[in-house]
Amino acid sequence: MKIKVGILGATGSVGQRFIQLLEDHPWFEVNYVAASPRSAGKSYQEAVSGRWLMSTPMPDNVKNLIVQDASEIDAAQGKCSIIFSAVNMAKDDIRKLEKAYAKEGFAVLSNNSAHRHTDNVPVLIPEINPDHTEIIHDQRKAYGWDKGLLAVKPNCSVQSYVTPIYALMEQGYKVSEMIVTTLQALSGAGYPGPSSLDMIDNIVPFIGGEEEKSELEPQKILGKVQDGKIVYNQNIKISAHCNRVPVIDGHTACVSMKFADKKPNLEEILDIWKNFKGEPQKMELPMAPLQPIIYEKENDRPQPRKDRNNDKGMAVTVGRLRDGNVFDYRFVGLSHNTIRGAAGGGILNAEYLVKIGLIEI
Ligand SMILES: NC(=O)c1ccc[n+]([C@@H]2O[C@H](COP(=O)([O-])OP(=O)(O)OC[C@H]3O[C@@H](n4cnc5c(N)ncnc54)[C@H](OP(=O)(O)O)[C@@H]3O)[C@@H](O)[C@H]2O)c1
Repeated sequence: MKIKVGILGATGSVGQRFIQLLEDHPWFEVNYVAASPRSAGKSYQEAVSGRWLMSTPMPDNVKNLIVQDASEIDAAQGKCSIIFSAVNMAKDDIRKLEKAYAKEGFAVLSNNSAHRHTDNVPVLIPEINPDHTEIIHDQRKAYGWDKGLLAVKPNCSVQSYVTPIYALMEQGYKVSEMIVTTLQALSGAGYPGPSSLDMIDNIVPFIGGEEEKSELEPQKILGKVQDGKIVYNQNIKISAHCNRVPVIDGHTACVSMKFADKKPNLEEILDIWKNFKGEPQKMELPMAPLQPIIYEKENDRPQPRKDRNNDKGMAVTVGRLRDGNVFDYRFVGLSHNTIRGAAGGGILNAEYLVKIGLIEI
């Protein structure tokens, strides 16, 4: 018997990726799809007609599910116990909607930024901060939730640079300052995204709100749980430049990093990245990449087209590690924004929470 899951925003770019990744999932089965009132009442196949974005055919098991209005929570009762949230709405409305589902006993795993800075909501990358899930006990106490919970995944480019620096920090090397320049794919803007005439033959050096997310979310992920809150790690300072580039999928980050005191040498860094493993790998979770950080030696890698699908789109591919001229070292990180950075990351979070018993089935 598989665990029944639902998707809010199932018709959108990330929602469709959830549908695709969950098609043959060994633990989970999609049994509830919801979106805006525009799609509600139609079969899933009808609601996404003409805008199915995935390169694989729509799975048969979702074609005839009737899309519900996401705000009508009663419709989800009895159909699923886990809710993946990928709606695009005003942040206040998302905050209310996600909490309302959690109050009704659903485990809500969100892709949205709305709750990323809520004190008692973990921003999870289970290879990095699995211990932050302990805040869920405080969350349940604070809101009077019984089985419900709320956990989110970070912004879609964050893992490209936070996973490699966390691997070094875990070995006692304190990264203190970083300059990160992201080159972010079009699918990160949802469907249909920026117009072709704005993007072909062009780069747009602004993505609203993205630099703030890229600078602040890592401090929460690398922070610690204390007195019912997650305290941000302010010992690491990040300055980000975020650019939209004419790539379909895959966010790249060009990183310069500086260490607070002792620094590893280049060989040690490569060795640490190669051997880095987190809880999802030890637990052999279905969505976990075998190797979370893959280093590509060629001097023109990583590239989105060649490297975004490494290990089912869940690995971070790193390359171009070299000395820096201003900071200690430089490297380039890349990860798939709608897989590791969105739906795949959300599914991995759910698997981890099921495995440690925080999602009760
Ligand atoms: N794209 C990425 O790489 C990425 C990565 C990480 C996180 N995210 C986040 O994931 C969320 C979804 O992104 P996306 O790229 O999938 O956006 P999208 O393609 O624009 O899809 C938006 C989804 O939200 C639904 N929706 C819109 N208004 C709604 C309402 N009032 N009530 C209920 N549902 C509503 C839409 O339903 P209809 O089809 O009925 O309009 C659609 O299913 C966003 O918060 C985004 O920031 C995206």
